[in-house]
Amino acid sequence: MKHNNLSNTMKKNVGHTNTTAIILAAGLGSRMKSQKPKVMHEIGGLPMINHIINTLNHAGIEKKIVIVSNDMQEVTSAVTPYPTIIQSRQLGTGHAVKTALKLLKGNEENVLILFGADPLISSRTIKKLINRRKKQDKPSVVALGFTPTECGQYGRIIADNEGVLKKIIEAKDASYDELAINLCNSGVMVINGAYLKEFILSIKNRNAKAEYYLTDVVEIATRKGHICCYIEGSEDELIGVDTMLDLAKAENLFQCRARENAMADGISLIDPKSVFFSWDTKIGKDVTIGPNVFFGPGVTIRDNVVIKAFCHIEGALISKGSVIGPFARLRPKTRIGSNSKVGNFVEIKNSTLGFQTKINHLSYIGDTIIGNTANIGAGTITCNFDGIKKSTTKIGKNTFIGSNSALIAPVQIGDGATIGAGSTISKNVRAGSLSLTRTPQREISNWKNNQKNITDDHD
Ligand code: UD1
Ligand code: MG
Repeated sequence: MKHNNLSNTMKKNVGHTNTTAIILAAGLGSRMKSQKPKVMHEIGGLPMINHIINTLNHAGIEKKIVIVSNDMQEVTSAVTPYPTIIQSRQLGTGHAVKTALKLLKGNEENVLILFGADPLISSRTIKKLINRRKKQDKPSVVALGFTPTECGQYGRIIADNEGVLKKIIEAKDASYDELAINLCNSGVMVINGAYLKEFILSIKNRNAKAEYYLTDVVEIATRKGHICCYIEGSEDELIGVDTMLDLAKAENLFQCRARENAMADGISLIDPKSVFFSWDTKIGKDVTIGPNVFFGPGVTIRDNVVIKAFCHIEGALISKGSVIGPFARLRPKTRIGSNSKVGNFVEIKNSTLGFQTKINHLSYIGDTIIGNTANIGAGTITCNFDGIKKSTTKIGKNTFIGSNSALIAPVQIGDGATIGAGSTISKNVRAGSLSLTRTPQREISNWKNNQKNITDDHD
């Protein structure tokens, strides 16, 4: 399934080699009320900062610099191999860009500035923004504006009738009339690399927040005789995440997009709004997905698979023609062979199933390799953990594991073997044999049972 610029598996576009992106991520994100750096919060199972990195890759922008604050090792690791630079004190967006100047080569044609917590921008919009610089009027600054439902604290874009940008005023510094403008600044901006340093070094912090505002480059450039302009994007792409509520809104927008893409690709979603995708979910042709299904990261589903209602699936490969669920849980490193069946209340982890294998009811299968056409009976448990270490179970092809059996790992069940129901298997089982460990059934005749009166009510 294609994820509309949200996947790093997509082909890179060539171009924009003369553009360097600076991603601002040093803000503390205190309104998230979380220990985690803001940009590490996830959308569709991927940190926001990585969504931006993937989108830039898709737009063909290879050169990236990420601005972080002290103690953001987690962000540095998440963006590897791209360089990070520490902004020790958060003195404003203009100051953050100033911090990055020393990593610039000085020959950049365009410097694109984005925010790490604005994760849904599309590569199409980024390309449009950069391409605007090539138009006849050759603007030195192009801002990305939008008209949000609520303007709130967004900076306001002040432009003349010809669309020439005069200044961006921050809400805190705006007059009553300026606050009435509903064209807002998304924060994304592209600046002529030849003048970036000159503009950034001219920024002062004489404003309501005593911060170095990046947005001041518009007035500075205009004063120096440069043209500044803006293009408009849609609110759905430009939502900024400052609170957990914003994060939930961004997740919802991401999911709506993923569901639409899935259906456009021919995947049948019986109840789209209750299916949750990850950024990297891959789905083949003629797949049907029932209501209330959750895909964590790392899922690949091949053609003609049916996922029935209420399944939780992550890190799993499901081969063609298999039927999963309802109520199945597939955990990471699970590989299901073709035309297999995994039924209700079955949990599988780090295991491989051959083709046409059935595990239809109430089982736990962990650290196990199962051959083709095996039938694993209801209530089979692989006991993979002895309290200290995990061990492997191997179940051969054409095997039949009777219901309510415990297979104590490490253990091997040979090809074609049968395990009698209710057995606890702790020794290897030879191919083609029958193994049983249950105690023989006894029958005592004429037993008088203790029930007082079997016609009494039993609530
Ligand atoms: C900014 C814009 C505003 C725009 C809004 C859109 C400025 C001055 N204002 O305001 O016009 O409408 O975004 O969401 O640019 N950051 C740093 N270092 C700093 C300060 C911020 O890296 O010293 C990073 C933050 O992590 C964040 C981004 O810059 O990713 C934006 O900072 P934030 O404080 O959210 O700016 P806003 O006040 O929202
Ligand atoms: Mg903000």
